[in-house]
Amino acid sequence: PNICVLISGNGSNLQAIIDGVNAGKINANIACVIANRPDAYGLERAREAGIEAVCLDHKLYSDRQSYDIALREALEAHQPKCVVLAGFMRILTSEFVEHFSGRLLNIHPSLLPKYKGLNTHQRALDNNDDEHGLSVHFVTPELDGGPVIIQCKVPVFADDNAEALAQRVQEQERSIYPLVVHWFCSDRLKMNNNKALLDGKVL
Ligand code: GRF
Repeated sequence: PNICVLISGNGSNLQAIIDGVNAGKINANIACVIANRPDAYGLERAREAGIEAVCLDHKLYSDRQSYDIALREALEAHQPKCVVLAGFMRILTSEFVEHFSGRLLNIHPSLLPKYKGLNTHQRALDNNDDEHGLSVHFVTPELDGGPVIIQCKVPVFADDNAEALAQRVQEQERSIYPLVVHWFCSDRLKMNNNKALLDGKVL
């Protein structure tokens, strides 16, 4: 099946998915990578891997609605089985999310429902949490609020700063996201009634 990946920046999760596909660990073809920013380094990673890389610059659109319609059309041209948000730093309209309902995945750097939104690593430090982590979830119109598929915890150390903590989380992201994409593409993972199911069992 075709998948599309949306990015805004570095694209280390994208790279892990590219590597997973190339290693035969993800049963999918990355049909295109779309970034909302022209300087997203992930676009180069995609080109390097021979994948169609498109910049759909949000600054060229007057509002969120028109951007999301253009994005939806660019994606639908590839008839993707799923759309993978990999560091895509834009809020999507509920119309867009409903259109791709059940086939839209996101990775978020916190143990949801803790720390929705931005600056998650610093917020975990400010609260003196002793653990932090990541969540992969289906996207619903509620920001970072869709059903969680899998989480991974990392320890927080006394001398941590946000950068060190982010790195520890991102290392785990790179092994987990490809696995989840593979589950989805091999029909093991579904969203039903706002719940995530793996092999028919609620997660
Ligand atoms: C990751 O930490 C991801 O959880 C968050 O944005 C970051 C993207 O990193 N949503 P990269 O672009 O995949 O390197």
